[in-house]
Amino acid sequence: MSEGQGLLEVKSLSKRFGGVTAVEDFNAVVRDNHLVGIIGPNGAGKTTILNLLSGVYPCNSGEVVFEGRNVAGLKSYEIGRLGVARTFQNIRLFEDMNVLDNVRTAYSWRARYGLLQAMVGWKGVNIFERAVEEKALHWLDKVGLYKHRHEYTGSLPYGLQRRVELARALAGEPKLLLLDEPAAGLNPAEVRELIEFIQKLFDELGLSIILIEHRMEVVMRLCHWIYVQDFGRTIGQGTPEQIRKDPVVIKAYLGEEFE
Ligand SMILES: Nc1ncnc2c1ncn2[C@@H]1O[C@H](COP(=O)(O)OP(=O)(O)O)[C@@H](O)[C@H]1O
Ligand SMILES: [Mg+2]
Repeated sequence: MSEGQGLLEVKSLSKRFGGVTAVEDFNAVVRDNHLVGIIGPNGAGKTTILNLLSGVYPCNSGEVVFEGRNVAGLKSYEIGRLGVARTFQNIRLFEDMNVLDNVRTAYSWRARYGLLQAMVGWKGVNIFERAVEEKALHWLDKVGLYKHRHEYTGSLPYGLQRRVELARALAGEPKLLLLDEPAAGLNPAEVRELIEFIQKLFDELGLSIILIEHRMEVVMRLCHWIYVQDFGRTIGQGTPEQIRKDPVVIKAYLGEEFE
């Protein structure tokens, strides 16, 4: 990778849904070991950007260059295999599965497609299953959920369910983690905890993160660089200090408050 390029480079990305342009000409760079935020009011197109980056939808135009390769148009499991993991704005977990099994599902594609496993037969399956369990437990420990591993996911408080989702995303050992409003539905104490927790993960794991947030405080505390979206367009970008003083950004947010 030449200098100036990032782990991820997004070029002129656009997405329309019928008459609505959800994302218009979005450009972004995420370098190795950087925490990048995308903020903006509801309907600004933030989730759509994540959906495009993770292959949930195809884009209408543009490029998503991950490690030098354009991944726009690939399926989400293919992008996942290349090292991009995500969480969802509305938690998507198997509520009637226990915490450990939920994290184990992160390895299911490996189970299905593992050539080695196919060759070694049933004995190999057992070894494989044990290795998967060990890895899943490792990630549960990392997010502080080890002691909850046998509990039903649906019975956990919301803040802990968010962590199950995180553990599952991390279990694939991504190079890029996409978080869609991880603070949604959390109370102020849980939000503070989450900020510290994301910081700790980031420091320990040395990955890159794109963090989408509706709330300013979370991205302001965590991110190195922030993109501000409004009606599908980027209306500002910069460091948290620059964003805080940007009159265009202030106006967009004040406008929202008055509504
Ligand atoms: N699957 C979809 N079908 C139709 N319209 C959609 C779809 N997803 C998002 N949109 C529209 O795209 C715009 C941006 O939505 P979204 O990306 O969810 O914004 P945000 O996450 O910033 O709140 C909204 O007008 C929304 O209604
Ligand atoms: Mg959203």
